[in-house]
Formats: sequence, structure tokens, C-alpha cells
Amino acid sequence: MSILIKGGKVVTAADEFIADIYIENDKIVAIGKNLPYKAEKVINAKNRLVFPGGIDPHVHLDMPFMGTSSSDNYETGTRAALFGGTTMVIDFILQTQGDTLKNALKTWQKKSENKALSDYSYHMAVTDFNKKTEKEVVDLITKEGITSFKTFMAYKGALMIDDGQMVGLMKTVKKHGGLVTVHATNGDIIDALIAKHRAEKKLSPWYHYLSQPEVTEAEATARFSDMLAYTDCPGYVVHMTCEGALNAVRNVTKRNQKVLVETCTQYLVLDASLYKKKDGAKWVMSPPLREKKDQTALWAGISQGLVHVVGTDHCPFNLKQKQMGAKDFSKIPNGHPAIEHRMELLYSEGVKKGKISLQKYVELTSTNAAKIFGMYPQKGSIAIGADADITIMHPTKKHTLSKKTHHMNVDYSAYEGFKITGKVETVLIRGQIAIENNKCLVAPGFGKFIKRGSPQMI
Ligand code: URP
Ligand code: ZN
Ligand code: ZN
Repeated sequence: MSILIKGGKVVTAADEFIADIYIENDKIVAIGKNLPYKAEKVINAKNRLVFPGGIDPHVHLDMPFMGTSSSDNYETGTRAALFGGTTMVIDFILQTQGDTLKNALKTWQKKSENKALSDYSYHMAVTDFNKKTEKEVVDLITKEGITSFKTFMAYKGALMIDDGQMVGLMKTVKKHGGLVTVHATNGDIIDALIAKHRAEKKLSPWYHYLSQPEVTEAEATARFSDMLAYTDCPGYVVHMTCEGALNAVRNVTKRNQKVLVETCTQYLVLDASLYKKKDGAKWVMSPPLREKKDQTALWAGISQGLVHVVGTDHCPFNLKQKQMGAKDFSKIPNGHPAIEHRMELLYSEGVKKGKISLQKYVELTSTNAAKIFGMYPQKGSIAIGADADITIMHPTKKHTLSKKTHHMNVDYSAYEGFKITGKVETVLIRGQIAIENNKCLVAPGFGKFIKRGSPQMI
């Protein structure tokens, strides 16, 4: 199959220019003005923005969590991702404490095989680090192309590891060329606050927010950064939400340390006042939504080069699942649906409102994730020889987000009524048209597992 994308504004992390893109099979073959190629399919991209396909490095598909499972599986979740212009996701495998990483990998391979429509990879969440896991970590990096390892400093008794295990993991990962990522909040303080609020019968979603104050994230982020410095390991903080945590990574730049940082769309556009609403459970996630001053700090962190990636932490639960915590906030499954909206929300709130440039937008939504997670330049760029993963956006079309129109397998929208400027119209993945005229044209199983290498400098 050959495709010619004609006359769009091609945007990369470095440039923007009007050009044609010629694709043969799964790769970009030529980029230039008025390319002379005859293609089987021509896409007119005049007055459209042409971006590298989005990469969302933080999603939870079909994940068992808090007594239930996230409601999007690999099929529904990756289809929704494609509708939103994201052509690759990185999901989290959870090791069961006491069991092997190998068994966890097999479980996730079964979940994804012949189901995914977008490309995908996994981070391995190490919830139990010991001599046996150490060897498995090496095998994952050297044989399986799984090079990023997730750790939790919270969710004690289920996912959390202690600092001794953390340092052990960092040393191994550093030695073999991987990356350690973290959910950085102080689990002990949070557990104590949850217990206090429950004892006082303070059980509404507002107390979910009050159980995870900013200091819990700031302290854990600083501690994680110190452990990275001690082990000389590259590290990445997932879903950063607040000024305090951002200051922790800003502080370590003084000793010339670079801690990689992801925030998520919700922390840039939503705030904690939602927990006061009757249906506040819809936004119960960890860490929680924060204050307006934290949104400002995160946007500033983006401009200052301290925040490198915007993901979603997509972890949807239907309203009935959220009801599990109707009488006790600590039983509400944590997470919200967003995989479909990341590219449009960040464009509308960031680019259109003048907060970020088009180049920064591409960095945040695609290029930096490709580099950090060892897939660049196969992914994350519009370049000759790269995978033809391309998102074409109408830059001024207005629309409204709603559960009535989204494709995620969840019965509410966390962004109901949100007004957006900019619409993803056409999406290509490895040279196949995946989304066109509001239809998905690739089938389950089209998505490929992408083996990854070591993190690259950004
Ligand atoms: O609330 C959240 N974030 N749910 C998913 C698990 C995690 O901590 O990322
Ligand atoms: Zn987390
Ligand atoms: Zn997550």
C-alpha cells in the first residue's frame, strides 16, 4: 500500500513546514514539496496539521485493581486511543507480590494478543524485588525489549516496595540500560490519613483529596530523586500533579541531575473542587486533582523544560464500579477515563490558548516519550525511515466532549461538556489508515508489540 499525504503543515518537535509525505507499506519514504509519486491513496491535508502519531506512555487496560478491573480492555482502549490520535500506548504489567515477573508478563500477553488496534508496549511494575526478580529484570531488558520498570511508593500491602528494594532495583536497571519509573507519594502518611478520616466518619470523595496532601508527593519525589542520584540510575516520575513535587525535581537540577517527569492532562485542566460534587467519585484518582496554583506550576514546568511528557493515566471504571465506594472514599476504584482526549485536550488548552508552541506539543505528546522509552526514531517523529504513524488534525474545528460520542468503554465522561478547538480527523498507523471519516478501519490484532531499547537523552 502506498499513501501520499498532500500539502499539510507537518509539525515535528523541531520544525513546521508545508510538505507532502509519501508512505510505502509501513514506513515514511519521502517528505518534500510537490512530491512526484503516484500513490494508491491520496489524502488532502491542506489546512491541516500533520503530527507524529501520539504516544501515551501511561495507560491501564484490563487491569485488576481495588477489587475490580479497569473497564477498557486492549481492544476498546486502543480503539479509543486511535480515535484520539494516539497510535501507541504503554500499559503497566503488575507483578503479583510473591509471584514472578515472567508469570505477570504471560498474563498481560494473553490480555493483549490479537486484541490491540494501536501499537503497544509494557512497563513492568516490580512489586517485590529480590534475587529472583533481579535476574528477571535483566532478562526483560536484554531479551524482551521491556526496559522500563514501574515502582510504587504507595498502595502498601499490594504494590508498594520499600526503599531498600528501590535502591536494589535501580542498581540493576542502571547496570543493564533501563529506566525506573515511579508513583511517587508517601504511602505511610497517606494510609495514616485514610485511617484517621475513616475513624472520624469523614467518608466522602473530598477526604480522598485530603488524605493525599501535596507534601506526600513532594517528599516521595525528593526521596526518589535522591535514590536515583545515589545509584546513578535514570528515572521518570509518572503523573506529577503539584508545585511541591515539581520543586523537588527543580531542586536537584542544582546538582546537575535530570529527573524525567510526566504529568497528565487532567492535572493541567481539572482541579480538586470536583471532589465537593455529589458525583465526585468520577474523579477519584491517585494522586488526586490539585489546586489552580498547581496547574499554573505544571504549565510553567512544561515551559521551563522540567516536565517532559503528558500522558493520561487512563484507568476507567464504570459508575457502578465507582459506587463500590459510595459509603467510603477509600473503596472507590482509583482512576478516570482519558485515553481518547489527550491529544485534543492538550492542543485546545495548550496550543490554542497560547501556553505552548506546536513543537512543544509534539515533544509532550510523542517525541519525548519515544526517546525516553527507547523507541526513537522508529516512533515519535515524521522522518524518512520512521514508522508511518501520523495524526492529522483540523486545527480550528470546534466540538464538545461527551459520553455520547466517546469510544471508551465507560458510561460517563470526566470531561462532559468540555469545549474543544481542534479535531483529530485522520490517523495512520504503520502506513494503514486507522481512522477516517469517524470510522475505525483497523481490526483487533493489528496493533503490534514494540520492543524497546535504552532511554535516550532528551
Ligand atoms: O488513580 C490512579 N492513578 N489509578 C491507576 C493506578 C495508578 O496509580 O497509576
Ligand atoms: Zn500511579
Ligand atoms: Zn497509573
